[in-house]
Amino acid sequence: MIIIRTIAELRDHLDHFKHPAFVPTMGNLHDGHLALVRQAKPLGDVVVVSIFVNRLQFLPHEDFDTYPRTWEADCEALDAAGCDVVFAPSEKELYPEPQGFTIQPPSEIANILEGHFRPGFFVGVCTVVMKLFACVGPRVALFGKKDYQQLLVIKRMVRQFALPIEVIGGTTLRAADGLALSSRNNYLNPSQRLEAVQLSQTLQSIAQAVRAGSTDLESLEQQAMDDLAHRGWQPDYLTVRRRSNLQAPTPDQITPLVMHTGLVVLGAAKLGSTRLIDNLEI
Ligand code: PAJ
Repeated sequence: MIIIRTIAELRDHLDHFKHPAFVPTMGNLHDGHLALVRQAKPLGDVVVVSIFVNRLQFLPHEDFDTYPRTWEADCEALDAAGCDVVFAPSEKELYPEPQGFTIQPPSEIANILEGHFRPGFFVGVCTVVMKLFACVGPRVALFGKKDYQQLLVIKRMVRQFALPIEVIGGTTLRAADGLALSSRNNYLNPSQRLEAVQLSQTLQSIAQAVRAGSTDLESLEQQAMDDLAHRGWQPDYLTVRRRSNLQAPTPDQITPLVMHTGLVVLGAAKLGSTRLIDNLEI
C-alpha cells in the first residue's frame, strides 16, 4: 500500500490502471469503512481510499476541529483490508484557493432531512466528491447506505453529470447491539453508548409497524419522536420515505411500496451533544 499526498503524484500512479475502485472517507476508520474497502477489492484493478476531513461540509458550530483523526491506525487497517493507495491530500492541496465553484444539488433531495438540519451539507459533500472523482478518475465508487441520503445524492450527481462511474451502496455495519458504526460513536460516554441503540430499535419498530400494515405514518413517526424525546434524546426526524427520491409516500402508495420494498425509514437524533443518524430499508 502506498500513501500519496498530491494530486499530481496520484495521477502519475493511477495512469497505470484502467479500473480504479474508490472509497472516499474522512478517516477514523471502523469496520463499516473497511467493509467498503473489501467490497471494492474485486471491483477494480486498484483500490484507492481517500482520507480527507472536508471543511466544506461542516457548519461553523459543528465538529470539524475535533473530528477524530487517527492516521496511523487508519493506515494499518487499510493495509490489512486490501487498500492499494491511500490518497490523503492536505487542505492546501485539495483547496489551494477558496473553492468558489461548488456543486449545488437540487433542493428536493438535498434540502430535506440531513440537508434541512445541516444547511449546505450536501453542497460540501458533492463539491468534494466531485473533486475527488476528478483526482482519482474511478470507474467504480463505493458509499455506505448508513448515509442513505448521501448515497442517493451522489448517485444522482453522477447520473446528471454523465460521469463514467458506477456508484455502489454498501450495507450498514452495526455493533453487536445494533448501533450503526460511526466515527461519532466515539463521542458517547458509557451510559450514552448503552442508550444509543434505541435509535436503531426505534427505526425497527417503525419498520415493523409499516410492514404489518400501518398506514398512519404521521402518528407513527410522532409517537417515535415523543418516545425518544422522553428518553432524553433530541430527535431531528424519524420518517418513512420512498427509497427512490426520499419523498414521503402518499397514503395510497404505502401498501404497494411495502410489497415492492420501496420504502426506507430514516432517523437523526442527538444524544447529549452527539448527533447520530441511521436508517433501515423496509
Ligand atoms: P465518512 O463519514 O468517513 O464515511 C465514509 C464512507 O463510509 C461513507 O460512504 C459512509 O456512508 C460509509 N460508512 C460510514 N459508516 C458506515 C457503516 N456503519 N457501515 C457501512 N458504511 C459506513 O461520508 C463521508 O465520510 C463523507 O461525507 C465523504 C463521502 C468522504 C465526503 O467527504
